[in-house]
This record gives sequence, C-alpha cells and structure tokens, in this order.
Amino acid sequence: MVKRNTCIFISGKGTNLKNLIAHSRHANFPIKISLVISNNRKAEGINYAKKFKIPYIFINTKLKNYENKILLNLQKYKISFICLAGFMKIISKNLIMNYQKKIINIHPSLLPKFKGLNTFSRILKEKEVKAGCTVHYVNEKLDGGSKIIQKFFFVNDDDNELILQEKTHKLEYRAFPEAIIKIFRKN
Ligand code: GAR
Repeated sequence: MVKRNTCIFISGKGTNLKNLIAHSRHANFPIKISLVISNNRKAEGINYAKKFKIPYIFINTKLKNYENKILLNLQKYKISFICLAGFMKIISKNLIMNYQKKIINIHPSLLPKFKGLNTFSRILKEKEVKAGCTVHYVNEKLDGGSKIIQKFFFVNDDDNELILQEKTHKLEYRAFPEAIIKIFRKN
C-alpha cells in the first residue's frame, strides 16, 4: 500500500497524535506521518514527534509570513493529507484552498452542536443527554465541513468536565483512525 504523506497539526498534549502514530506504524494503515506542525512551542505533543523521529516545526501565527512557512514545509515533505488533532487555531482560507477535501479535524462534540471552544462546560450547562466527538472535513466555516464519522456516549448525572473529556478522548482514539480508513477506502 502506498501511504499518503500526512501532516498532523497540534497545539497541546497531542494524545490524538500519539494514537495516530501508533496506527500509522501498521503496514495497512493508509497514512504515514511525515510532519508535525505546532503553533505552540510548549506543546507536549511535540515529544511524540521527537520520540518517533518525525520531523516537526513550530509556527508563530503572529508572524505575517507564517502561512508561507506552512505551505513551504508541506511542499518540502510532499504532504497530501492533513489532520488537525487539537489544533486550536483557525486554518487560513489559502491553506484550505490548496488542500480542498484533504484536511480533516477532530472536534469534541456532536457537531453541529457546540462548535468552537469550551465544549464540555456548555454540554453540562445545556444538560445534554449525549456527548461525543466528530471527525469532519475542514472548510471555511468554523467546525462546519461535512461529517466523516461521529461517535457518542450518554452523559451521566454525575459527569463533570474532566470525566466528559476523558470519555470523549477515548472515543476520539477510535474515531480518528476509523475516519482515515473510511476516507481512503473510498478512493
Ligand atoms: C481533542 O479532544 C480534540 O477534539 C480537541 O482538542 C483535544 C486535543 O487533545 N479539539 C478541539 O477542541 C478543536 N476545536 P490532544 O492534544 O490530547 O490530542
């Protein structure tokens, strides 16, 4: 199988990155993680790139030319697929144009509910019966692209934000690889 050269964008802990690295090491998983991009120098997730000898770069989104730096590196590493795994910045229109239907994101809610930030506190406040995660294509609208996979669980009365986060993460570790397999099975 020819694996797609993939770039993972992160901002924080990178547990989804860690999980995708583990999957990508299987011969029949459709992607190879060829680059990790972080907008945060302190992102713990970078340690997984270091551990598995995956090239990584930092980008400073406050700098004017940061988008060029991303695009040049995507070209350098021949990237044909992008996963946003806890990347807490909005992706520029230009990047989306260059990678139409080739950028996916994981979001910790059952979209279209709870787009944006502070998902878990809002789920509790709204007394939602169900919570979960969504893997979707990225378009110009925040958390707005078409869905690839969604997984849910029922919220318990005594769930707090931390518990919701843990339960959601567990689902994410299944949903993200499944979504990637689903995308490339079609092609
Ligand atoms: C994940 O739960 C992901 O769904 C969320 O950030 C977390 C990153 O965890 N993404 C968003 O909220 C994007 N709007 P990780 O760094 O341990 O993979």
